[in-house]
Amino acid sequence: MRYGYFADEQCEYVITTPNTPLPWINYLGCEDYFGIISNTAGGYSFYKDARLRRLTRYRYNNAPLDSGGRYIYLRDDDASTPQFWSPSWQPTRTPLEEYQCRHGLGYTTIQSTHAGVKASTRYFIPLGANLEIWQLSLTNQRPEAVNLSIFATVEFCLWDAMDDATNFQRNYSVGEVEVVDGVIYHKTEYRERRDHFAFFACSEKFTGFDTDREAFLGPYRGWDSPSGVEKGALSNSIAHGWQPIGAGHVRLSLQAGEHRSIIFLLGYHENPVNEKFDPPGSQTINKRTVLPIIQRFLQPAAVSSAYDDLQAHWNGLLKKQQVHTPDIHTDRMVNIWNISQLMAAFNFSRSASYFESGIGRGMGFRDSNQDLLGFVHLMPQHARSRILDLAATQLPSGGAYHQYQPLTKRGNNEVGSGFNDDPLWLVLAVAAYIQETGKWDILDEPVPYDNAPGTEESLYNHLQRSIQYTLDRIGPHGLPLIGRADWNDCLNLNCFSSSPGQSFQTTTNKDGKVAESVFIAGLFILAARSMVQIAGRRSGEQQAQIYRQAISQIEKTVWEAGWDGTWFRRAYDDFGEPVGSHTCTEGQIFIEPQGICIMAGLGIEDGKARQALDSVAERLATPHGIMLHQPGYSRYYLNLGEISTYPPGYKENGSVFCHTNPWIMISEAMLGNGAGAHDYYLRINPSRREEISEVHRCEPYVYAQMIAGREAPMFGEAKNSWLTGTSVWNYVAITQWILGIRPEFEGLRLDPCIPPEWDGFSVERSFRGCRLHIKVHNPQHVSRGVVEVKVDGAKIEGNLVKVDGSEEHQVEVWLGK
Ligand code: BGC
Ligand code: NOJ
Repeated sequence: MRYGYFADEQCEYVITTPNTPLPWINYLGCEDYFGIISNTAGGYSFYKDARLRRLTRYRYNNAPLDSGGRYIYLRDDDASTPQFWSPSWQPTRTPLEEYQCRHGLGYTTIQSTHAGVKASTRYFIPLGANLEIWQLSLTNQRPEAVNLSIFATVEFCLWDAMDDATNFQRNYSVGEVEVVDGVIYHKTEYRERRDHFAFFACSEKFTGFDTDREAFLGPYRGWDSPSGVEKGALSNSIAHGWQPIGAGHVRLSLQAGEHRSIIFLLGYHENPVNEKFDPPGSQTINKRTVLPIIQRFLQPAAVSSAYDDLQAHWNGLLKKQQVHTPDIHTDRMVNIWNISQLMAAFNFSRSASYFESGIGRGMGFRDSNQDLLGFVHLMPQHARSRILDLAATQLPSGGAYHQYQPLTKRGNNEVGSGFNDDPLWLVLAVAAYIQETGKWDILDEPVPYDNAPGTEESLYNHLQRSIQYTLDRIGPHGLPLIGRADWNDCLNLNCFSSSPGQSFQTTTNKDGKVAESVFIAGLFILAARSMVQIAGRRSGEQQAQIYRQAISQIEKTVWEAGWDGTWFRRAYDDFGEPVGSHTCTEGQIFIEPQGICIMAGLGIEDGKARQALDSVAERLATPHGIMLHQPGYSRYYLNLGEISTYPPGYKENGSVFCHTNPWIMISEAMLGNGAGAHDYYLRINPSRREEISEVHRCEPYVYAQMIAGREAPMFGEAKNSWLTGTSVWNYVAITQWILGIRPEFEGLRLDPCIPPEWDGFSVERSFRGCRLHIKVHNPQHVSRGVVEVKVDGAKIEGNLVKVDGSEEHQVEVWLGK
């Protein structure tokens, strides 16, 4: 069952019913000011950091679902009994005659008709401004004139979202606003150390306003039936403490058929510290710096050109790589939605979504490094800055904080540290940057450790420390020690937590000298292979040779201690017992080491990789994707940690943890199985799953972190959409390994591994300043095997295209036997 449809031409997903199984979200914003918005206008806004600079409130985990948003109310002032409704359905949930939500790239438009009034609101955040625009268009479809009241509302958050949700004894006394010339200013704490405030403005004159929540709603009433809306008049309340809001009332008469547009602005502004007040010495906000911005964006012409600029920005991003294959789900994801999701992951890591509260986590070290792998071609300069930010939080030991707050960019241990895989992802991110851009000079950038001035070393040294970090932490079998956990945050082999509520992310009861990770061994080899090339170029053959030796050593150990006979083992626990072995009663086989070890090149020649992938197919693959491990843990294991806290089939305990599926797609492609790789790709492809939206339940246009596994009662149900490494890895799997358009250090490798029934496909791609038009022909219907490549009509040796400059090139590729 579907709840909408893809409008590919417009790059939109159109939702045709407001009561989707879950709120279906979109992201607004590209630079510093951001918001999330649901299909019923729920969501919130923030400046840079969803925790530390939250502009508006959102009630996570609330009933009804999805409470708090950018709510507009319409009221029929001609009706004899009060009649009002929400054109976005929430919060009044009045039945609408027509409803449509169009989630597009950087904007959302919600359109509905009720009682002969058509309302359409487009929400977006212009480039270069710290504000959001709500562009409301109203059309009177009645045969006669109508008198309408329009109420637009926001509930302000007192900036620090964590404090806002917990520290009521203080917060009920600090709220402050100003209302001047029809603009509502939220200025809580501006009197003291904050130099920022929020504003809420309208292109029409407010007939009335409220800034005190209870004055607007009425005692014991909710956002679904505000007394101010019911009465049709607001009380011009000024909030003193309690809950400051912005509610503005506009009256409008529309003739039959008449159409009107109104602009609302919600924004964030900072003043220079010594110019905070006007007049100086007063407590009144200096508005001279913000008024020109407000005035500018209240002009319809400025709004439409801001919207056009935003579209041009997104089109520029999409253009970086477009593919045309025989499969619509591939094209739609690669060309539109995967890009949208990559941008969200780049901007927010795992911090702010419908499932991530914005206060739990900041920018993950492991996460944000991985997010760059398929992102670099979109915004290379941004990728470069992100790499330098991440590296600056690295510790002198080579280890990493698990996250940093986006506002401060300082690493912190709030969600734990000592995840021994973390530093290796930095190597992969830097390699991906160089492979895409050819810009080796990034290695020379001076970067501090732990952001401490004076500790700067070249980025290259950081990478060396990353590699050394693993080599300094080798366990009894010669495999890397796991630390708190590796990629699987919940495989906590040193935690031994027995107290309820103890965090698996921050508690460790063992010294960590025994438990080892086969996954980290695989990841190490993968990263060190890049280091061989980087070091070879940067410090010469001798250093490259050192890394080659380290690789051989770890590889040898994997075959000795990490191979279980028909698949790779997962780990060794604190008792030195294997995890992910046929000798275990539960958790016999895990997906992660199969993927990472094969991606690192292990077992490809001697058939072991094939064996491992056959084991995956036999034991882990389901129609809804490939499960993390089997059997799931049916009880809590002190020696395994959080993984066994989830009921079997959910999250890290054997769900289809989608992030890992592309590793198997890549591995299948490396072994030449194009049909298998693409089949796995389609199993978790959201567009392909659209037709089972009642089962999948999350948005059909973006990947979710997990789909419940076979052992779960809700098998096939997705959770934790949007912010997940699934996004980037699927993009990498389909574009670089299945379609096979793969940046390498020396150029662009063209090595497709596709379903043999495909006649071919084409790709337009920017690469190192050039524009490539690539056509792949598959006349003999093979999966893999490039027999000829022509660049601008001239045959080249091999399948590595070496170009740079600014030209356009026609590239033709023939597959065959
Ligand atoms: C989740 C993991 C996540 C970790 C991060 C755990 O509860 O299951 O997916 O990586 O928290 O803090
Ligand atoms: C989500 C986390 O953000 C990511 O870092 C981790 O690898 C996976 N969960 C698996 O635990």
